[in-house]
Amino acid sequence: MTATDAVLGAPVERREGREKVTGTARYAAEFDAPGRAQAWPVPATVARGRVTGVDSAPALALPGVLAVLTHENASRLGEPDDPTLAVLQGPHVPHRGWFVGLVVAETLEAARAGAAAVRVTYETEPHDVTLTASHPGAYVPESANGGFAAVTKHGDPDGALASSATRVDVAYSVPPLHNHPMEPHTSTAHWDGDRLTVHSSSQGTTAVQKELARMFGLPEDRITVRAEHVGGGFGSKGTPRPEVVLAAMAARETGRRVTVALPRRYLPAVVGHRAPTLHRLRLGADTDGRLTSLVHEVTTHTSRVKEFVEQAAVPARVMYGTPALRTAHRVAALDVPTPSWMRAPGECPGMYALESAMDELAAELGVDPVELRIRNEPETEPDSGKPFSSRHLVECLREGARRFGWEDRDPRPRSRTDGPLLIGSGVASATYPVLVSPCVAAARALPDGGFLVRVNATDIGTGARTVLAQVAADALGAPLDRVRIEVADSGIGFAPMAGGSSGTASWGSAVHEACARLAGRLAEHSGPLPDEGITAEADTSGTADAESPYARHAFGAHFAEVTVDTVSGEVRVRRLLGVFAAGRILNARTARSQFIGGLTMGLGMALTEDSTMDPVFGDFVERDLASYHVPAHADVANLEAHWVDEQDAHLNPMGSKGIGEIGIVGSAAAVGNAVHHATGIRFRELPLTPDRVLTALLEHEHPAGMLGV
Ligand code: MOS
Repeated sequence: MTATDAVLGAPVERREGREKVTGTARYAAEFDAPGRAQAWPVPATVARGRVTGVDSAPALALPGVLAVLTHENASRLGEPDDPTLAVLQGPHVPHRGWFVGLVVAETLEAARAGAAAVRVTYETEPHDVTLTASHPGAYVPESANGGFAAVTKHGDPDGALASSATRVDVAYSVPPLHNHPMEPHTSTAHWDGDRLTVHSSSQGTTAVQKELARMFGLPEDRITVRAEHVGGGFGSKGTPRPEVVLAAMAARETGRRVTVALPRRYLPAVVGHRAPTLHRLRLGADTDGRLTSLVHEVTTHTSRVKEFVEQAAVPARVMYGTPALRTAHRVAALDVPTPSWMRAPGECPGMYALESAMDELAAELGVDPVELRIRNEPETEPDSGKPFSSRHLVECLREGARRFGWEDRDPRPRSRTDGPLLIGSGVASATYPVLVSPCVAAARALPDGGFLVRVNATDIGTGARTVLAQVAADALGAPLDRVRIEVADSGIGFAPMAGGSSGTASWGSAVHEACARLAGRLAEHSGPLPDEGITAEADTSGTADAESPYARHAFGAHFAEVTVDTVSGEVRVRRLLGVFAAGRILNARTARSQFIGGLTMGLGMALTEDSTMDPVFGDFVERDLASYHVPAHADVANLEAHWVDEQDAHLNPMGSKGIGEIGIVGSAAAVGNAVHHATGIRFRELPLTPDRVLTALLEHEHPAGMLGV
């Protein structure tokens, strides 16, 4: 084994682990200094309309309150790229929870009391927040999130469906979901003359810096954004959020350092959500179980502020071979908060629907669901016709089946019980694209034999800084403990965000290139190094983002075993197992954590997570972790993540695919399919809460009319 083999892939511990568990790692709210003020936003209490008046006097009369900012007195900012950031710029209220004011005070308590004392009056207009599959306002957008075509078509899907030996025509519904990271969105801002420094809880400082420059009319080099430690994001911190604009605005207004830490209750309205998706899936198959047609149609919502289209029909363009394929998105702009990215946007809800429908098709055909997927393995990417750079879905399915003990399964629904429990198991496939963006990095060799690597990566808890140090040590041929790494500072240079499962590939490519170049220089150098050391830089613009002739995706397979309590209707996941093919795994410890985290989030999506839109108030009802149920430890009994060794020379210097999101993709379908196997009942609306399950179980036992209701 060479030194290189030892470092890439090794289960290295997170470099900041000790700081985090001892509480010394500082998050955005913790960059304190004398005179630091706190601010609390004032959310709109109507779903649509305009502010007609603000009475700030009662707030200003409270002790400690320094200022009340509203659209009447806040300075006009430049137009943001993202219209959700145009806060306090006018009286318009596009949805409930939109910020209409900000109270700045000496303490958090005073700011909160001040915000409660501000009196806002509104003129309201009728609102519409209810998505239906036949919503008259639904339209076909120019493109879906990620720039994907809204509609694609190959062959004659309708004709092929009509002549198929077996058909499935089903509808699924995924509710709105919220990211709810542990650390709510927070920014601390201070001005030093016309220089602005911000500590922001963000997935990427470059985007924050650019947006602030645009809005505050400053050259980018006068703005420094840092995000040293970030308590999760799951996509909701992938773009700047209103709190960073408010913090910078309030700091300029008051001359103070100002922290805006959003109360968790305000997050559902202002930091994005996974948009609800209504799916219609039509699958046709021949008698051998080979697909003859696949039609996936999605209807979703966006806000009136900004168009965001959850690209949920996109994974159907990747997964299975079929001579006829149609995928389509429609969106309705409603008076709702603006949806955005949540872990595996598109793939996550899309694969729930597609993989549930595949299970229905398997049942219809009497074919084993693992075998059905294997039979429909495509030669090339169905939509583009491109060859896959690597695709090991079949290996994942087989390895998963082996580890899970799938062959012992009795395929008949309701065939296994344990007292009042029904027991079932299910399978689903997973996929997530390989994405990569340009980035800069620098590596310096120091006279003491150490190395300093700088890259503006963000470590949102994934272990990014640790993995990047491994990439650097590998390229330098140096021991890992000689490599120091600096991340999460816009001053280092541009970098893409921690999102799209693209961080390690993007930052890592730049780090690898800078380090390889430095190693080359060192090889040519003789004698001691100069005091300032020797530096090499890299900029992957034009290479990292070059179009690939290959279809590049990670794949995986999920296996779930559930129990369904016939007395309470409660579903519990006994076992959830994922096997992934995601290129080279760069750190076995942090990778496992990403996969397990994704599985856990999929378990929550299947069983408990649900944001409901109140049609009267135009508000998400669940605004805290007591009502928005994410899995707790007791819910996560036995989760396993494994991977197959995948060599792919068409990716990046590390040979890696992204791993942050694929763990959630398909896992909810595996759970849902297991619930069908346990109960014989097909649930097509998430989540599978006891009320829904028990109602269906009672219906099943006592068909309509028998209950006497
Ligand atoms: Mo992820 S939803 O791309 O941050």
